[in-house]
Amino acid sequence: MRPTNLKTAIFLDGGDPGETRELIGLLGFLDGQTTNPTLISKNPEARKRLDRGEKFTEEEIYRFYKDVVREISSLMPSGSISIEVYADPSTTTGQMLKTGRDMFTWIPNAHIKFPSSKEGLKAAEQAVKEGLRVNLTLCFSQEQAAAVYAATSGAKRGDVFVSPFIGRLDDRGENGMDVIANIIKMFREGDGHVLVLTASVRKFDHLMFALYLGSDIITAPYGLLKEWGRKGLSMPGKDYVYDRGNLKVIPYRDFDLRKNRQEYDVGHDLTVTGMEKFSADWNSLIKK
Ligand code: G3P
Repeated sequence: MRPTNLKTAIFLDGGDPGETRELIGLLGFLDGQTTNPTLISKNPEARKRLDRGEKFTEEEIYRFYKDVVREISSLMPSGSISIEVYADPSTTTGQMLKTGRDMFTWIPNAHIKFPSSKEGLKAAEQAVKEGLRVNLTLCFSQEQAAAVYAATSGAKRGDVFVSPFIGRLDDRGENGMDVIANIIKMFREGDGHVLVLTASVRKFDHLMFALYLGSDIITAPYGLLKEWGRKGLSMPGKDYVYDRGNLKVIPYRDFDLRKNRQEYDVGHDLTVTGMEKFSADWNSLIKK
């Protein structure tokens, strides 16, 4: 059962509806799910097919992704399901938009994931104008989050998520949780239309600290949510302290949220390598 003091929405980060079903049974609730090309490439049905040496055609892989999110959506009809567009570093805004518009018709509760790159933000800006709900993924900096805020100004609260990836910052010695704390602090100066979705959650303390900070949403992998369930859905106390170990502090910076999207520097090498990896995993499923 959902803890009464839990204000954060809890999403599963995964591409296997079997895990979704199991976790709903185990936790007693789930508020949504995030998917991405890498997670779809790990789906057990996709793996079986690949192990038989049968790759997908482009049409088949989109049909497969659609079937997966439809099944997840039927398990959480009032939740939010994030579906990610194909985006390698050379994908244009127009191509992302075309895919995103189509994906948005797949299920009634979709958020479309665009990368927090220049082209991705431009696509999200247009998508929001057309009434799509969006999730800006591969966000690694406070400035990228400020750009998400600017690109989507005027959107309804709940229609826009920004997903800072904390584990990948930790991986290179920077304290990813600082980015969450900094973005939440920065957004207190705004109108609240962008929800912070803590992503790339790798360990139990990431989950506890994101809950402590009041992240609007947390997406976590199956294993971690199962651990949380085993621990009785424990919540951090008022005196909770996150141990950052040797990770380097990422300092808070002042950004004026009223600027235009184009005025922010959204370049980040991890966004580029993230797009490269997502697109490579997707392409590995397709017959050439
Ligand atoms: O939600 C984002 C997530 O799937 C990425 O996680 O562990 O690959 O950095 P990770």
